[in-house]
Amino acid sequence: MNRNAGRLTGCGIGLRKEHHDTVLKERPRIPFFEVISENFMAEGGRPRDVLERVRRDYPVALHGVSLSLGSAEPLDRAYLARLARLIDWVRPVLVSDHLCWTGLGGHNSHDLLPMPFTEEAVTHVARKIREVQDFLERRILVENISSYVEYRESTLSEADFLVAVLEEADCDLLLDVNNLYVNARNHGLSPEEALDLLPPGRLRQIHLAGHEDNGAFVVDTHDGPVSGAVWDLYRQTIERFGPVPTLIEWDAQLPPLGDLLEEARRAESILATAISDDEVRRSAARALGRCTAEAVCEVAHAADAI
Ligand SMILES: [Fe+2]
Repeated sequence: MNRNAGRLTGCGIGLRKEHHDTVLKERPRIPFFEVISENFMAEGGRPRDVLERVRRDYPVALHGVSLSLGSAEPLDRAYLARLARLIDWVRPVLVSDHLCWTGLGGHNSHDLLPMPFTEEAVTHVARKIREVQDFLERRILVENISSYVEYRESTLSEADFLVAVLEEADCDLLLDVNNLYVNARNHGLSPEEALDLLPPGRLRQIHLAGHEDNGAFVVDTHDGPVSGAVWDLYRQTIERFGPVPTLIEWDAQLPPLGDLLEEARRAESILATAISDDEVRRSAARALGRCTAEAVCEVAHAADAI
């Protein structure tokens, strides 16, 4: 299994068709793009032409919405084969999908539907994730979704469920901080407690997005800027987990590309504080190894630079 499929850094944005022309013309300074896998599975055509040119210059992450990992039905082998062909062509740094189900009996709901948080569901979804990883011969990331209902049958918290799935499937986590916030508000949970439970070694990407706050409930809309509360939670996430590559997910009512890049720069400034802290820690570790006056100066210098 490919454990070293490259590394992303910084904050990227989603490549959406409204921005294709501007991206190709202006070649914005952005560390990576994420694309929706299903939008590029058909060979040929304008989408493939755009991605062909983008992937030459930028790292690309593939983000899918159709694996339906939580469905009681078997995996769709034809879909998996199409995904494998796309991976061969794109050579993405990361491949991700969601911890959810999206249909039943050949019917696609076009919604990411929540799973019950039970031990039985952990075993079921972990087996399917392993099957996907074996088929693709690489690790995948699974993302926590937003939800508006809970199952009476659930015996685990969402965070305990996530941790158990990551462990049993031996896969990685794409943490959507906005979804974590939306669910915390809708279901009366503590997002900070959830952060404390998540294993740092498996968190490989973060999503940030806008939502609609209706007071009594919050809807995950992806149609506006990231809210102040989600930026606060993101800051806490980065303080706890370090500089995890991040993506601004803006899918509807898209603003001009420049506004999207501005959101990414805001995330970059938060990531930069974690990178500075990391540098101080590394300097301290090096200095402890040598323990000389010169080494102590080096740590002080690194701390001053923040
Ligand atoms: Fe997301």
